[in-house]
Amino acid sequence: MNFGVVGAGQMGAGIAQVAAQSGFDVIVQDVQQAFLDRGKATIEKSLAKLHDKGKLTDTPDAILGRIRFTAELQDFADCDLVVEAIVENEAVKAELFRTLGAIVKTDGILASNTSSIPITALASASGRPDRFIGMHFMNPVPLMALVEVIRGYSTSDETARIVTETAERMGKTPLACNDFPGFVSNRILMPMLNEAIQCVMDGVAEPEAIDGIMKLGMNHPMGPLTLADFIGLDTCLSIMEVLHRGLGDDKYRPSPLLRKMVQAGLLGRKSGRGFYTY
Ligand code: CAA
Ligand code: NAD
Repeated sequence: MNFGVVGAGQMGAGIAQVAAQSGFDVIVQDVQQAFLDRGKATIEKSLAKLHDKGKLTDTPDAILGRIRFTAELQDFADCDLVVEAIVENEAVKAELFRTLGAIVKTDGILASNTSSIPITALASASGRPDRFIGMHFMNPVPLMALVEVIRGYSTSDETARIVTETAERMGKTPLACNDFPGFVSNRILMPMLNEAIQCVMDGVAEPEAIDGIMKLGMNHPMGPLTLADFIGLDTCLSIMEVLHRGLGDDKYRPSPLLRKMVQAGLLGRKSGRGFYTY
């Protein structure tokens, strides 16, 4: 399978890596060479770790050799499946899918890794709504088992079948859900992270104590503030905005502290500072 990935950020790099580990030929595109270089470095580091632990069936070099990095969207023309993993912004994603819809061969499938944005709206922009689907990987992609598969209004049975089988070939467990804001994963997860941020703002406890309480008290692998920093506070804010706009209820209103931190450029781990310093 020719597998395309748009965006070489933390998710795009992870998806490209796991696709290549599964034997697919992969093309990754980003808007600047520096972002491609950073994505490649992320993949190299992850492969080295997995190799040291004996978790790869191929050498890191062989896996990396199946990934081509490019700045040109035209290179996706022959892809069977293109997964988009760019910024969580509906207008930017829709514009990309308008372009991809005209480039990728007509029987190719387009998928979005969006955390929350309506799949049906992106499918319409692509001009091929039957061959469009949500393929939502979890972070960090090389370690997390789930792929949430979200059908848009017009997604065909054949598209859902191919994408489900592809997720399985990538060693993941696909689980289906319908096209509602935030799907299942982020409709449930994100209000908890937002509430933890509100606890910081209200002075309920220090960030370390909030994380410690949720880790030790609920057996979560990461505290909610550590997880928000890990996901990216810009992404968390975008998801909360989609939930608030799409579902209406005040319980989804983004915490003012979250909004302020994003305005201040504190995006979490990827910018070096969020609730913690990295
Ligand atoms: N590739 C390879 N190895 C990696 C890695 C990667 N991408 N990321 C971490 N590792 C390694 C670590 O370096 C560590 O290696 P060592 O044992 O050699 O130190 C090993 O994996 C295990 O990590 P840790 O011991 O530090 O921590 P852990 O056992 O808790 O596992 C974790 C790490 C799986 C990330 C775990 O902390 C976890 O499950 N965290 C929660 C993640 C989560 O909730 N993800 C979902 C986010 S929401 C989302 O994705 C959807 C959305 O739309 C926002
Ligand atoms: P990121 O900020 O790490 O990376 C985004 C990448 O996309 C950057 O390298 C950027 O240069 C690139 N990009 C932006 N606009 C582009 C365009 N028009 N064309 C090509 N590349 C472009 O973000 P991320 O955390 O990897 O998130 C990407 C997507 O995955 C978002 O939709 C997000 O909601 C979703 N997602 C994120 C997580 C997470 O935990 N971070 C988990 C699941 C899904």
